[in-house]
Amino acid sequence: MQVHDAIAARRSTRAFLDNPVDTSHLTRLIEQAAGAPSGGNLQPWHVHLLNGEGMTRFRTMMEPRLDAGQVEATEYPIYPDSLSEPYRTRRFAVGEQMYDRLGIPRTDKAARLDWFRRNWRFFDAPAGLFLFVDRAMGAAQWSDLGGFLHGLMLLLVEDGLASCPQEAWAMQHTAVTEFCGAPADHMLFCGLSIGIPDPNHPLATFRTERAPLTEWLTLHE
Ligand SMILES: Cc1cc2nc3c(=O)[nH]c(=O)nc-3n(C[C@H](O)[C@H](O)[C@H](O)COP(=O)(O)O)c2cc1C
Repeated sequence: MQVHDAIAARRSTRAFLDNPVDTSHLTRLIEQAAGAPSGGNLQPWHVHLLNGEGMTRFRTMMEPRLDAGQVEATEYPIYPDSLSEPYRTRRFAVGEQMYDRLGIPRTDKAARLDWFRRNWRFFDAPAGLFLFVDRAMGAAQWSDLGGFLHGLMLLLVEDGLASCPQEAWAMQHTAVTEFCGAPADHMLFCGLSIGIPDPNHPLATFRTERAPLTEWLTLHE
């Protein structure tokens, strides 16, 4: 598989098979992903991998919270307060297209919320990870996390695995931080569901759109 194939094949996967994923395999890919560049080589990523019994313990801890509908304010803004165009339309479009594929109309707010809450079950993936960043780090280092994440997602694709990055976990940051035993100066950025994609799920063939190049590339020849 070439890099452009992996980029084209990667997509946020929200339905997984039960098949377990090997911890040493995932650890190897995570180590390879740390080959990502970072400004000043700070390598500002801190990763907690959940798999096997660790994932079972995590789910057991989360269950009563989810049953009680517990949600927290995020520690960082997931989106700017008011999204301007063209970002607003893009965000709206991806949501509508996904819920359309799932057969959940806009009027069925309860069903949409139920689906969203699946984020906090890692979409039933067998494995998942949490990505933390030192609170002292700024926007430049947060961008380094993006490079790390994308590399990891491509490495997963190369090995027949799929993933979904999830800022939704920021709405459960206290429970996640406590479970992970992360130090107080580490802030949760996101989670990543990991597993083998379910080929029979309605979202299995769901693809998101990208704006045409002319909308965001300025050439200076
Ligand atoms: C940092 C980050 C956080 C994200 N958080 C969520 C999330 O909480 N839940 C979710 O379902 N998708 C989440 N996504 C997935 C995006 O919705 C997805 O990347 C986008 O719609 C493009 O689709 P694609 O990844 O399938 O190409 C996140 C993506 C990124 C990069």
